[in-house]
Order: sequence, then C-alpha cells, then structure tokens
Amino acid sequence: MIYEIISTLLKKADPEFAHSLAIKLLKNNFLPTTLFTQKNSNKLQIQVLGKVFTNPIGLAAGFDKNAEVYNSIFKLGFGFVEVGTVTPLAQSGNLKPRVFRLNEDKAIINRLGFPSVGLDKVKKTIENNKPNGILGINIGPNKDTEYKIKDYITCFENFCNLCDYICINISSPNTPNLRDLHAKDKIEELLKNIKLKQRELNNSTKILLKISPDINDTTISELADIVLNENIDGLVLTNTTISRSDLLKSSHKSEVGGLSGLPLEDNSNQIIKKFFKKLQNKIPIIGVGGVHDGPSALAKIKSGASLVQLYTSLVYEGPLVANRINNELGKLLEAEGYLSLKDAIGKDCI
Ligand SMILES: Cc1cc2nc3c(=O)[nH]c(=O)nc-3n(C[C@H](O)[C@H](O)[C@H](O)COP(=O)(O)O)c2cc1C
Repeated sequence: MIYEIISTLLKKADPEFAHSLAIKLLKNNFLPTTLFTQKNSNKLQIQVLGKVFTNPIGLAAGFDKNAEVYNSIFKLGFGFVEVGTVTPLAQSGNLKPRVFRLNEDKAIINRLGFPSVGLDKVKKTIENNKPNGILGINIGPNKDTEYKIKDYITCFENFCNLCDYICINISSPNTPNLRDLHAKDKIEELLKNIKLKQRELNNSTKILLKISPDINDTTISELADIVLNENIDGLVLTNTTISRSDLLKSSHKSEVGGLSGLPLEDNSNQIIKKFFKKLQNKIPIIGVGGVHDGPSALAKIKSGASLVQLYTSLVYEGPLVANRINNELGKLLEAEGYLSLKDAIGKDCI
C-alpha cells in the first residue's frame, strides 16, 4: 500500500525530482525483499549471451545512469539491469526542464543529453558494490568530443571487466550528431575499433549495439550485415523516437527530445521484426519500447526479441511492474502452449 501511495505521489511531482527521489529511496534500501521476492515460472528462464536469465524482463538504460541502485532493482524482480549511459568525463546534460510526462499517452519525452558523473566515479561505485545479477553497462561519448569513437573505446576499456555486457549507444537523439554513427562507414569504424581493443585486452565480455527506431530499411540491412561481419553479440532495439504520431494527446507532445512508452511500442516491434528476419536468429535481440504488461512483453518476444527491457512503464505502473509482467507472461506462455520462452521467439515473423 505504502508503495502505491509513494508511486502516486511521484507521478504528480516534477519528473526529474520524482526520479531522484526514487533513486534515493532505492539507494537507502527502502525495499523489504519479502514484499518483492517472487519465484518466476520455469518457463521464463532463458539462456542468452552465454548467461542464464531467471526471467527476460530487464531495466532499460537511463534509469540508473550512474549505477547507484542496480542491486535494489534486482530485488524488484528484474532479470537484468542496464546502467548508464555513462560518458568518459562528468557532464551535466541539457538545460532543465528536459523530461516531460505525457500522462494521457503513457509516454515520456526526454532531452536529458547524457547527464553523467563520468566513468571514474561509476567504475568505483561498481567495483565497491558487486552486482547480484546480470549487469549491462551502456556507454556513450561526451557532448564536446569531436572524434566520438575515442570516447567509446575509453569507456569500453574501463568497464569491460565489470559487467556481463557492454551496450554501445549510438541512438540517443539528444547528443548532437550521435545518430550519424548509424552510417555504414562510421559504424564499421566504431565496431572494428572496439573489437580491436577487446582483442588487445584479451577480453570476452559481450558487446551489444543500441539502435534508433528512426531508420529506414536500407540502414537496417546495412547494420544487420555489419554486426554479423564484426561479430557483435547482440542488438538492443530500440532507443526513443523523434517521430510524433498524430494520435498523441498530451500538451507536451511537441517538446523536443526522444519519445518513449506506449506510442513507441509498435514502431519498435516493426524494427525488431525486420532485424530478426535479416539476422536469422544468429544473434539475440533485446526488445525495448512500450513494454508494460504480459501481452506487450510477449509481442516483443514474438517479434524476435530474446529478452525485453522497460523504463517508461516503471514510471507509470510503479515498482511492482516487473513482477506483474513476469506473472502475466508465465500464464500467457502456458495458455498459448509454449513449453518455454525460447519457443515463442520470432513466432510473429514466420
Ligand atoms: C528519462 C529517460 C532517459 C533515458 N536515458 C537513456 C540513456 O541514457 N541511454 C539509453 O541508451 N537510453 C536511454 N533511454 C531510453 C530507454 O532506455 C529505452 O530505450 C526507451 O525509453 C524505450 O523504452 P520504454 O518505452 O520502456 O521507456 C532513456 C529513456 C527515458 C524515458
């Protein structure tokens, strides 16, 4: 009950204030494990990226930007957590206000611009706080860095031994020119350099690439070929969108930034399907964008995702969201006759 009240109050507060309060509550261990501990259905267990995930619901990048609360997030029932985006140097991000709740649309627009305490601090935090679950670290460049590839390499070499996977984020719409890295020659150069560094370090941490939903079929084809050629381990599909549907109702709908939540769901599923068909199950996809209940999680999986992530529905549905989705997903798999989650992957692409 108390969590429902806090959640309702947080929804009415300024979005960034609510977020920092949520981080403080989680940091101070305001969560009795007993309230959230839930035994997942065996059907939800899945082996991906060389790891066994107890369930497929992850927390997407952007919530725990500075890796302060991942161990509390595991207690909320999430099967994995992606922290970041972390940049090499500390930076404050764009001017406020820069996060807008579109309540009527169950969506958020953000133009945060990678506020980060920087890699040194994040590295120390993780070194002093061993993850109790599967951890990804999402990395990006500082706003003022001209040769952005250098920043990804710096982050990679600092973080690659501290997590289960590194996610290379080229898809935030809020860092000028970042999305230019989707171009064939640029992404090839970035991935080749990262793989070279990985070989130099004799490291084998999984490397994922997080992609924009605002791309056309030619770019999808090119990216699919490149990630396979460069032996990238997986994709995170998708980041927020800069497109705006005519159906949006909220007064904040014209704010500049990336749109997440329900209005992104279909676009993200279409991109997942297109990549799944091109990749032919050779590398896994983490599906993200509008996941908020069992059916929406299953839709991502049937579109071709092996795992899913969410952020916006944590804001709208509160801290029980991962457990609720896992419950519903387990029942849906049962009802539809799937022996395991794995059997449902890509079923809508056939
Ligand atoms: C406030 C906010 C901040 C975000 N920050 C990041 C970020 O730093 N790095 C990143 O890769 N994605 C970031 N995202 C995008 C999410 O990780 C996710 O891809 C997107 O929100 C779609 O999922 P959702 O509809 O479940 O929110 C952010 C999203 C929101 C709402």
